[in-house]
Amino acid sequence: MSKEKQDNLMEKIVSLCKRRGFVFPSSEIYGGFAAVYDYGTYGVELANNIKAAWWRAMVQENENIIGIDSSIFMHPKVWEASGHVGGFSDPLSECRNCHTRSRVDHILEDAGIFADEKMSEEKINKLMESNKGKIKCPKCGKSDFAPAKSFNLLVKSNLGNFTGDWDKSPVYLRGETCQGIYINFKNVLDSTRARIPFGIAQIGKAFRNEITARQFIFRKREFEQMEMQMFVHPDSEMKAYEKWKERRWDYYIDLGIAEKNLKWHKHENLVFYAKAAWDIEYNFPFGFKELEGIHSRGDYDLAQHAKCSGEDLSYRDPVTGEKYIPHVVETSVGVDRTFLAVLTEAYTEEKVGGETRIILKFPKKLSPIKAAIFPLLKNKPELVKKARDIYDNLKLRFMCEFDDNGNIGKRYRRQDEIGTPYCVTVDFDSLENEDATIRDRDTMKQERVKINELEKYLSDAVG
Ligand code: GAP
Repeated sequence: MSKEKQDNLMEKIVSLCKRRGFVFPSSEIYGGFAAVYDYGTYGVELANNIKAAWWRAMVQENENIIGIDSSIFMHPKVWEASGHVGGFSDPLSECRNCHTRSRVDHILEDAGIFADEKMSEEKINKLMESNKGKIKCPKCGKSDFAPAKSFNLLVKSNLGNFTGDWDKSPVYLRGETCQGIYINFKNVLDSTRARIPFGIAQIGKAFRNEITARQFIFRKREFEQMEMQMFVHPDSEMKAYEKWKERRWDYYIDLGIAEKNLKWHKHENLVFYAKAAWDIEYNFPFGFKELEGIHSRGDYDLAQHAKCSGEDLSYRDPVTGEKYIPHVVETSVGVDRTFLAVLTEAYTEEKVGGETRIILKFPKKLSPIKAAIFPLLKNKPELVKKARDIYDNLKLRFMCEFDDNGNIGKRYRRQDEIGTPYCVTVDFDSLENEDATIRDRDTMKQERVKINELEKYLSDAVG
């Protein structure tokens, strides 16, 4: 896709998200707040469905994966032990002309030079030096940058006994959710019948002081992660790693993502905790970018927390008696990135009767609204009552919407744009025959279905 087409698609998606209540810029009435977004009516439903699909695939369908929900705030020592206070950073450089701060790996990438955020300060500065003139400030276009420095991404806060000196002893908003899993490893082990290999899964907010705000909800400063840590015997780590790579790829196919829009990316420069790291990339409107990271973390995290807390975080095999620190295979994906991938995948334009029909062809299980119920005419109380009765019954099973505004064509277009798979219309024949017209979003085909069979029809169709 050309750059122009990519920008165009992104613009259309951002505009649809605002117009139809999927995503709003945060604090918009105050001019917005960079890299922070809010989910609107349909956005929250889509995000909830994405989380439910992940939870089902990871926790419900796996006997040996257990869920938890740990707090955003943790003891500050967690972040020292994990290495985030010292080493969780991106390379930042300031434009000497306009003082805009940029992520160096991004401006290098924009100039077609391979770089990543895990490169050492020395290496990335060498790259900057040898490509002087090619790399440009995204704001003023000049090529005059100060040397790159590591910029820590942890977001600081204060909590509890405020002394006025909180910058010296801050607490942090968690930079990744999995630290809450490691510090609960022993609790889970002691309170359940979990035996290695077993996993702990969690969905929750994470916060990062991202240097640049761009690409809509792809890179947020407050975002949500869905992470699973599989605790395994050291000898089986790489086998488990390969298995989870395969399983996570298959998960996206099951989620309705076309295989041609996915690809693997191997990290050559590893983040401080990882022994191996692969990303599953998705073909976003701005090109292939990281959707999920799958990491082999060895015993790094448990060993660090054991050392810094003084707690014994080893595992004793109940059969062999062997005692060891378990190794970890991690799968980590953002809700927001999945949201953007699912939206991109679903966004469709079709020409109908000379007009452009915009449709979000979500997999039905992810659609925010499963069925919309319409009376053909708003001013016919008997039609409105019948349609309301149907709505009141179906809403107990599915997210439904009642709509009697505007003509039927307009109501269809609106539901197409929010990705509702079925629209049910009550007309005068419905009063006689106890049936209604059900219209399919993708084919636009209509059929008559008995009113008392609608629930089963939808249940078979959307699950
Ligand atoms: N625990 C490992 C970890 O956090 P990561 O590669 O830094 O690894 C994992 O992040 C996933 O979290 C990414 O693949 C992405 O889906 C999501 N993510 C990371 N930073 C994000 C951000 N600023 N905005 C939205 N999603 C983000």
